[in-house]
Amino acid sequence: MTAFFVTGSGTDIGKTYVCAGLLRLWRARGLSPSAFKPAVSGFDDDAAADSDPAALLAALGLPADPASIEAIAPFRLRAPLSLDQAAAMEGRCLTLDVLTQACRAARAKAYGPLLIEGAGGVMSPLNDSETMLDLVRQVGAPVLFVTGSYLGALSHALTGLASLAAGGATVQAVVVNESVEGSVGLEETVASLRRHYAAAPVAALPREGSEQAWRSVSAALGVE
Ligand SMILES: Nc1ncnc2c1ncn2[C@@H]1O[C@H](COP(=O)(O)OP(=O)(O)OP(=O)(O)O)[C@@H](O)[C@H]1O
Ligand SMILES: [Mg+2]
Repeated sequence: MTAFFVTGSGTDIGKTYVCAGLLRLWRARGLSPSAFKPAVSGFDDDAAADSDPAALLAALGLPADPASIEAIAPFRLRAPLSLDQAAAMEGRCLTLDVLTQACRAARAKAYGPLLIEGAGGVMSPLNDSETMLDLVRQVGAPVLFVTGSYLGALSHALTGLASLAAGGATVQAVVVNESVEGSVGLEETVASLRRHYAAAPVAALPREGSEQAWRSVSAALGVE
């Protein structure tokens, strides 16, 4: 079944927001989408409702109960740090093999479009020797790359996209998710990114989205 690996130029860029919007759109269209967050840091059992897994579950119309959280996000770390650092604080180490197997199992179970949300950005460390890029490559699903429109976002986006290309990953679409810091226009950012990056469609997502914007992101992915 169709799966996309959702990564981006960094943490807090809007990966979960984009996933949630697409999942809602696809459900409204009668598709049966699913989501998977192989590893999450900053996860507090006492505040599970505020987590990425809970946001993904809500978008799927599912409760954030312990069984659902375990199914959608099997590797949860407490510290709000990169995965390598958060795992080390618990005396753990997330290996590429274990994360890859978890993603493959989620893919095997999906019977509609699946969104696999990474953690942090493309080159965020998984452990002492591997990064999210290694997981993207191992899973092999085409990438939905999320970036922003803040000043500096173009360089961050192009750097991340160059890393993906160098790593042999296929990018299916790029979403420029409008940043809160509004010194650079969304449309200007999209236009500039398109001039510098022609390997995949680039869609614009304004703050709070819009029906049409969500449809264009979905179309950029080829999910009609
Ligand atoms: N287009 C948008 N309109 C309104 N709010 C947004 C938008 N994009 C992101 N946000 C908000 O910004 C915050 C950060 O976004 P989000 O959690 O999706 O980032 P992320 O890339 O998934 O971060 P992480 O690396 O922690 O997984 C969230 O509170 C989210 O709801
Ligand atoms: Mg997230």
